[in-house]
Amino acid sequence: MTDRRFLFVLGSARRDGNTEQLARIAAEQLGDVEQRWLWLGDVPLEEYRDVRWPVSERPDPKGNEKLLLDATLEATDIVIASPTYWYSVSSSTKRYLDHWSNWERVPGFLDTMAGKKLWVVTALAEEHHQADALLDALRRAADWTKMSWGGGLVGIGNRPGDVLSDTTALTRAKTFFAA
Ligand SMILES: Cc1cc2nc3c(=O)[nH]c(=O)nc-3n(C[C@H](O)[C@H](O)[C@H](O)COP(=O)(O)O)c2cc1C
Repeated sequence: MTDRRFLFVLGSARRDGNTEQLARIAAEQLGDVEQRWLWLGDVPLEEYRDVRWPVSERPDPKGNEKLLLDATLEATDIVIASPTYWYSVSSSTKRYLDHWSNWERVPGFLDTMAGKKLWVVTALAEEHHQADALLDALRRAADWTKMSWGGGLVGIGNRPGDVLSDTTALTRAKTFFAA
C-alpha cells in the first residue's frame, strides 16, 4: 500500500467531530501510507456555478478550488468523511462534489479519477439506515467517475466523542481500509 496517497475530505461543520474521529481511528491502520487531511471549513469553496458550457471555455480553478482540485488529482484514494445531515452529505461536502462536475472539463480529470478509489466515513445520531441515501449517492458518484468503491464506514454519535462508544464501528474501523 505504500505507493498510495490518501486524501481525507472532512465535511463536518465542526472540527474534530464524530466523523473525523472515526476516520482517524480507521486511518491508524494505514501505517506509513501518505495521508492528507483537509477540513472543508479551512478551504471553503465558492458557491457552485455551472460553467460546463461552452466546452471551449475551460474552467480555470484558483485559490481553494485549485488547492482542492490538485489534492483530489494527487490522491490515489479519496475518503469523503461527511456527517449525515438530513440523510445526505453536509452542504460543504456536496459543494465539493458539485465542483467535480466543472472539473470534468479540466483536461485529464476524468481519466485520472478513473484510477482512484472512493471511501466514505459518516457519523449520525440515529440508526444506520439514515445514511443509506448518502452511501448510495456516493457509490453512484464512484460509478459515474469510474472510481472503484471502497465502501462505507458508519458510526453512531451526536455529541462530539460519542462515536468512541460505538464499539461496532470502532471494530469495523480497524479493518476498513484493508478492503
Ligand atoms: C444539520 C444537521 C442534520 C442532521 N441530520 C441527521 C440525520 O438525518 N440523521 C441522523 O441520524 N442524524 C442527523 N444529524 C446528527 C449528526 O449526524 C450527528 O450529530 C453527527 O455526530 C455529526 O457528525 P460530526 O460530529 O462529524 O459533525 C444531523 C445534525 C445536523 C447538525
